[in-house]
Amino acid sequence: MDNWRQVSVIAALMIMLVLPVPVQTRNTGSTPEGGLRPTMRAIFQALTTVIPLSLSGQRFRDSANRQRLHDALQALSHHAMKLTQHGQEAPASFNFLRHSLRDDAQKAFELFESESFEESRFILHHLTDNCFLCHSRLPSSQPFPLGKRFLEQMPMKQLDPHERMRLAVAARQFDTALASCETIFRSSELPAAQIDLMALFEDYLRIAIRVHGDFPRVIRTLETFQRRPDVPAYLANHLTIWIEALNRLQANRGQEDELTRARTLIQQGQRSNRYLADRQGLVHVTLASSLLHRFVDSRSKSERQLAEAYYLLGVAESYMPRTSWISETEFYLETAVRLAPASSFGKKAFVFLEEYLIMGYSGSSGLHLPSDIQTRLEELRAIVNHVSVEK
Ligand code: HEC
Repeated sequence: MDNWRQVSVIAALMIMLVLPVPVQTRNTGSTPEGGLRPTMRAIFQALTTVIPLSLSGQRFRDSANRQRLHDALQALSHHAMKLTQHGQEAPASFNFLRHSLRDDAQKAFELFESESFEESRFILHHLTDNCFLCHSRLPSSQPFPLGKRFLEQMPMKQLDPHERMRLAVAARQFDTALASCETIFRSSELPAAQIDLMALFEDYLRIAIRVHGDFPRVIRTLETFQRRPDVPAYLANHLTIWIEALNRLQANRGQEDELTRARTLIQQGQRSNRYLADRQGLVHVTLASSLLHRFVDSRSKSERQLAEAYYLLGVAESYMPRTSWISETEFYLETAVRLAPASSFGKKAFVFLEEYLIMGYSGSSGLHLPSDIQTRLEELRAIVNHVSVEK
């Protein structure tokens, strides 16, 4: 298994070990307020110092910047920690990323303090993945003009396409993020196949569908891309299928509730995938995950329904290729198991998690399931087996 994958699985499981059982019984509303937004602004404020200085290794280790960076990294770590302490306002689905951000911020600060500057920059470089993954889940109700001003001052051209996208979404400039993707889709600097391999379509869909719900814009973008002369046959095929799906799904918003629609969409997406890593069902699973995030975030519902939603989120996430090293699949599946171990979804989530981890840890030299993960799986197995199975 790739190193980054291993790191993400281990990180995921370590974080799960410290999490309380994530039961959500309250209605949180669509925009978790409370301590969240002031804390977010403080985190953002710290990043406006850290990110520009971190772009150059030399400036990052320059003693003239030491105090400023110390203060900003300490503030970043402090507020990221606060996010986990005041998190009661946020839905349980945020638990994983809140803890992941806290750990990254703390590591970046500690590495800086021990003068491991390159390692600290490396962590900072990935830290905005947490912001991206959280912010790209739900529609955004509130403009954030400070984010726009920050991006205008950043030397965006120095950043690679992913970093540009991550930073724009961290600063909650979703339109800028989409526009920067569209520029890359139109530019001939990168071959079409390379753009696809960078998983930019996946990132683009996450924002255009889940945050903006703007199907016509995605259709136009994909149709324009399709006319490029360098699109390989396999990708032309994917694009045709995605455009068809977008046309059909935008016309048919359906009357059913989000959970029912998401369930159907995932089944349809899975049917159109010809093999496990196929991406033909990508539009379906992205839209399903969008509905599921709204479902777990919005109204109060039974634990059984929540367990199904988390199980489906785990399934949907496993079909959405990532450019980030953070995987949320395990967290969603474990949440489903713990919420309703007696339900059919708790059981299904356990079976899926078991397979996901075994597949993730096996390679040409056999199975390498670390002992802590094995112990974790056994604990979950016991939870699932010791409850009488209903329905
Ligand atoms: C656990 C999920 C999560 C993570 C991780 C996260 N955010 Fe947020 N962020 C939110 C939510 C939810 C909102 C509120 C949206 C709303 O109220 O409209 C928000 C809002 C914001 C805002 C707008 C505040 C305002 O006053 O409108 C900023 C700025 C922000 N986040 C920055 C960041 C940055 C930078 C990172 C990463 C270092 C980050 N966030 C990581 C979930 C998250």
